[in-house]
Parts: sequence; structure tokens; C-alpha cells
Amino acid sequence: MYGIVNKAIEGLVTENFGVEKWIEIKALSNIQEERFLSHEQYDDSVTFGLATAAAEVLHLPIAKVLVAFGKYWVLKTAKKHYGSLMDSGGNDFDNFLLNLPNFHSRVMLLYPNIQPPEFKVHKEEDDVFHVHYYSTRPGLTHFVEGLLLGLGEAFGKNVKVLLVRSREQGFDHDEFEIAC
Ligand code: HEM
Repeated sequence: MYGIVNKAIEGLVTENFGVEKWIEIKALSNIQEERFLSHEQYDDSVTFGLATAAAEVLHLPIAKVLVAFGKYWVLKTAKKHYGSLMDSGGNDFDNFLLNLPNFHSRVMLLYPNIQPPEFKVHKEEDDVFHVHYYSTRPGLTHFVEGLLLGLGEAFGKNVKVLLVRSREQGFDHDEFEIAC
């Protein structure tokens, strides 16, 4: 994945737990790089290795690390560095969700070689959405849970995110129900 993702993990760890923990996490995952470059592509194993090492060093379940990372991505990384891109996604939570399937086609203008996630979004009734998440990468279910919670917070909505089907259970994708 592009280095911006690894840099965001670094931000999450250093801002919440301190730089010493980040050094420990990098050492545990055998990372030689002094710093990650946002627009350079790194093997996915680097990102997964960092997340796994963070869980171990911080004594947290990996699911919690991924939820925290998803929230951090929306509330810090995207807000700080990609404000106008986020604004182009929609001016309220409902519109942002309904536009989510097209979002990474705009991201691709900045990061042309991404392997983007795929989303299908259905409005079931007022204030209830189903978000279907497809990916070539396994293991990011709880990252998406955190992203959806972060979007709710970014738009001032108290959302509940429920995983109703998952790849872990043998389905070909994850499905979330979002009540807001
Ligand atoms: C300005 C905001 C955003 C930017 C710049 C951005 C950029 C990226 C980049 C660079 C990757 C790495 C893909 C690769 O290197 O192959 C990625 C992956 C991903 N993004 Fe975004 N993204 C943004 C917002 C979002 C939002 C709002 C969501 C969902 C709510 C989202 C969901 C994901 C997921 C799930 C992945 C993992 C890819 C996979 O499933 O295989 N992103 N994004």
C-alpha cells in the first residue's frame, strides 16, 4: 500500500502512545526505513506487520487497533491533508455514504496505482444503511468499521455500526448495518 497508510499508523501511535512505542513497533516488525514516503508503494506485509506489532506492543486486540486506525484516518489524516477531497465526497453523512462507491476514483487522481476498496451502499429506510465492502485484501474488516464510525463523528452523527455478515464467516465480502 502507499506509504501514506503506514505514515498514518505512525501518527496514530506517536500521538496517542508516544514515539518510544513507535520505535518498539517498528523494531518488532523489522522495518528498516527511517521514514515512509506518502507516494511510494510498499508491500502490504509492511502495513499488516505494523498493525500486528502495534497490537502486541500496546497490549490491545488487533480489532481494536484497526478500529482506532480507521477513526484516525478519517478524523486526522483525511481532515488534515485531504480536506477538499473529503468535501467532494458529500456535505452530510448520508450523501457521503451514498457517494462512497465512487470516492476512490477521485483518490486515484492522487494515488494512481492503488488497489482500491469496493463499496456498495443501500439506504434501507430513514437513517439505516447497509454498506457492502469488497476487497482484494483480507483482514481489514475492523479498519472499515473504524472508518464508518469516524465518518459519523466527522459529520456530528452518533452512528452505530453493526457487522451483519463477514468474510471471516465465509461470505465473499463484509456487510455493515449503519444506524444513525
Ligand atoms: C481523503 C481521503 C482518503 C484518501 C486520500 C484515501 C486513500 C487511500 C489509499 C492511498 C489507500 C491504499 C490503497 C493502496 O495503496 O493500494 C486506501 C485504501 C483504503 N481506503 Fe481510502 N482513502 C480515503 C478515504 C477513505 C474513506 C472515507 C474510506 C471508507 C469509509 C476508505 C476506505 C479504504 C479502505 C477500506 C482501504 C483498503 C483497501 C482495500 O480494502 O483493499 N478510504 N485509501
